[in-house]
Amino acid sequence: MKFVDLNSEYEFFKTDIENNRKDVLNSGWYLLGPQLEKLETDFAKVIGVNNAVGVKNCTDAITMIVSIFPKDVPVIIPNFGAYPTAIAVARHTSNIYYINVDNTLTMDPRELPKDVKNGIIIPVHLFGNNCDMDAILKYAKDNSHTVIEDCAQSTGSGSGTKGDYSVFSFYPTKPLSSMGDGGMICSNKDLEIFKKMRFYGQNNGTIEFVGINSRMDEFQASIVNVKLNKFQELNDIRISIANRYKKIVKGVKERGRCVYHQFVMLVNDRNKVIEILQNNKIPYMIHYPKHISTMVHTSRLDSPEVENIVNDKVISLPCHPFLLESDINKIEEVLWEIKPFEY
Ligand SMILES: Cc1ncc(COP(=O)(O)O)c(C=O)c1O
Repeated sequence: MKFVDLNSEYEFFKTDIENNRKDVLNSGWYLLGPQLEKLETDFAKVIGVNNAVGVKNCTDAITMIVSIFPKDVPVIIPNFGAYPTAIAVARHTSNIYYINVDNTLTMDPRELPKDVKNGIIIPVHLFGNNCDMDAILKYAKDNSHTVIEDCAQSTGSGSGTKGDYSVFSFYPTKPLSSMGDGGMICSNKDLEIFKKMRFYGQNNGTIEFVGINSRMDEFQASIVNVKLNKFQELNDIRISIANRYKKIVKGVKERGRCVYHQFVMLVNDRNKVIEILQNNKIPYMIHYPKHISTMVHTSRLDSPEVENIVNDKVISLPCHPFLLESDINKIEEVLWEIKPFEY
């Protein structure tokens, strides 16, 4: 049994991926070409926004958006989760506010700072779950913050339409993935500035401002184009597997259509749970072992202390769409053994 199974995913899409790859090879157009244009148009439709701009990865997508704000703009992000969000932000500002998460493991709106204005708030739809966007949008409006939804792990959950911007990752393990790097900036706003920024800051051969090189290549775009029509079917399978697990254990509370990028449980005695999983040859991972603020340091001296509520309790179990029925049965059996340790 594998924790993720990218080989089976390749087999599933193989014929179409190979055909598209040949088309790209024969086209002689390898960057910023028709595959990316098609992806931008179709992806925007699938997500439900007017505009989409493909970039090299989701970290760049966040950095690029944050960079249009003044240096050291206040940015509010969750303290628990994947560290690229913080890395992307920390390149432009040291004024980061780390916020605890609620029982959905997404940003807890009750913890948002009252005295921060005119900044950016980045709700991260972690593990495929949805943040409490109603509360976050109200807070953002009351305090004049721009909202960037981080949908790197939640493509297909319905996230990505409510903020001013949303960003997506096509990293190979994500719900909609390439076979390398790729990312997308989405918005109902005009995104022309990011088309220039991803290409050195260039507009028709003239440098308008200092940009970067963050072009998504045609091979990666062609792979995502193939998967775009079917990724929701795979999300549905992930959801149905998670629902089976949830008949036995609580797992993390979901909000809306959680697409289970990871199936995460909180447990009290993680070493004991790991022992049970190892004895039964069930792969597992720890998402995430450390608070982000302990890894991405900022110069903010008054950074509020955040409680360590979940990092020592989380454990992720296999929940990918290519698990065999026998694998799922085995995991269900073992979940009964783990259940008494659930937090
Ligand atoms: C929540 C979150 N945000 C941002 C990123 C960054 O994505 P990328 O690897 O495409 O830069 C990731 C990737 O792991 C992520 O999980």
